[in-house]
Amino acid sequence: MSGFPLSQFASLPCPTQPFDGQTIIVTGANTGLGLEAARHFTRLNAAKVILASRSIAKGEEAARSIEETTGRKGVCEVWQVDLGNFDSVKKFTERAAKLDRLDVVCENAGIATGGAYEQMEGMESMIAVNVVGTFLMALNFLPILRKSGKKYGTVPKLVVTSSETHFWVWTLSACVVETQC
Ligand SMILES: NC(=O)c1ccc[n+]([C@@H]2O[C@H](COP(=O)([O-])OP(=O)(O)OC[C@H]3O[C@@H](n4cnc5c(N)ncnc54)[C@H](OP(=O)(O)O)[C@@H]3O)[C@@H](O)[C@H]2O)c1
Repeated sequence: MSGFPLSQFASLPCPTQPFDGQTIIVTGANTGLGLEAARHFTRLNAAKVILASRSIAKGEEAARSIEETTGRKGVCEVWQVDLGNFDSVKKFTERAAKLDRLDVVCENAGIATGGAYEQMEGMESMIAVNVVGTFLMALNFLPILRKSGKKYGTVPKLVVTSSETHFWVWTLSACVVETQC
């Protein structure tokens, strides 16, 4: 666990792999890690970067920021989606199915409520957004990515941003099991 605070001081390499001609979707792209990932994809020459955001206004602000810093205009599009609303997730992937190609989906949007209890879609909000909404979206994207891969002879990628706390849970459970044995 001590690795977490230390890791905050690590300097990360700046990505250099080009994404020429590719279409990329980043969820939670209006701020934080999602915004910076979208900025890198745009800088690295992606043809279309779809900023999936709960709020169109926040997404448009992010698009302006990316255009200013990369100098690439007309690359970012803002699409609305709310992962805590499963109809919204389905509409989003139906819209994505109409894209000519899709190369990368970064499912980055997520919440950590810090213990405040709220329900979405009849379940606890972190379960609804981080697990059910995220994997509903992932499963809906699989045929779209597969179709695009076949059409363009590429290997499309789907990634889900996770958390080191998952590793902590695994480590702690392993310790408990070992202690009990
Ligand atoms: N930063 C860390 O140290 C850390 C550690 C562990 C895991 N993570 C995970 O890494 C990812 C990005 O982290 P971050 O620090 O960049 O987070 P952040 O700054 O809080 O950004 C989260 C993004 O997800 C969006 N989002 C939240 N709920 C949503 C919903 N229901 N539907 C659609 N979008 C939603 C937010 O939109 P709004 O602006 O509209 O709220 C925002 O764009 C998250 O999944 C987070 O759980 C981060």
